[in-house]
Amino acid sequence: MVELGVNIDHVATLRQARQGIEPDLIAAAKVCELAGAHQITVHLRQDRRHIQDRDCELLAQVLQVRMNLECAAVEEIIAIACKLQPHTVCLVPENRQEITTEGGLDVAGDVAHLKETVARLHEHGIQVSMFIDPELEQVEASAEVDADYVELHTGAYANAKDDRLLAELNRISDAAMRAINSGLIFNAGHGLTLRNLAAVAALPGLNEVNIGHSLVSRALFVGLEQAVSEFLEVLQNYCD
Ligand code: PXP
Repeated sequence: MVELGVNIDHVATLRQARQGIEPDLIAAAKVCELAGAHQITVHLRQDRRHIQDRDCELLAQVLQVRMNLECAAVEEIIAIACKLQPHTVCLVPENRQEITTEGGLDVAGDVAHLKETVARLHEHGIQVSMFIDPELEQVEASAEVDADYVELHTGAYANAKDDRLLAELNRISDAAMRAINSGLIFNAGHGLTLRNLAAVAALPGLNEVNIGHSLVSRALFVGLEQAVSEFLEVLQNYCD
């Protein structure tokens, strides 16, 4: 079955709106875990707009499922990751002005630095994923830097309409095939919803999806446990 990583950044976004303690991020992570999520994903941004260092420390201590730490390949955060030792670090681009992660990481344009970062994370027993646009050049560069996984950016697919929809899905499928043939594990994420997930879940070889905004939004109406169950049900019904 395709596994579900739940990105709980937006639980922290709500908490940070008042800079208080509600909603409790750790409780949210545990509810996702109890509901069957396979992984909890958090993005420790340099600007600390949602997830805080303490959140990561607590999650690393209490999670029974895998912890996936998204971060930029910068010294400050990589040093934190090496201490925390999450199961996976997913390297993402970070731009201070952006509302969310806009595009994939330019691995091809930064091979030497990223190869060094991947090696350092591997030395600490951490697996490494590259969040990239579904482009063959970026997939090949991810293999070149010795990443374990690629997480293909599904944002363009999620925003596509009509004819573009199939074209974007094909782009993901082609990049996924290249990744698998290069020895990389294929994950996907960004902009996935209960409506658009099935077609992605059916892509051959898909290992895991990471879903945040739509799942946390759905949880406002049906509760977090139910929201996780609904996304898991789509994965169960439609995966290859
Ligand atoms: N995967 C990565 C690498 C991301 O950066 C994000 C957004 O933080 C997600 C998945 C989840 O995207 P969304 O919140 O649109 O579901």
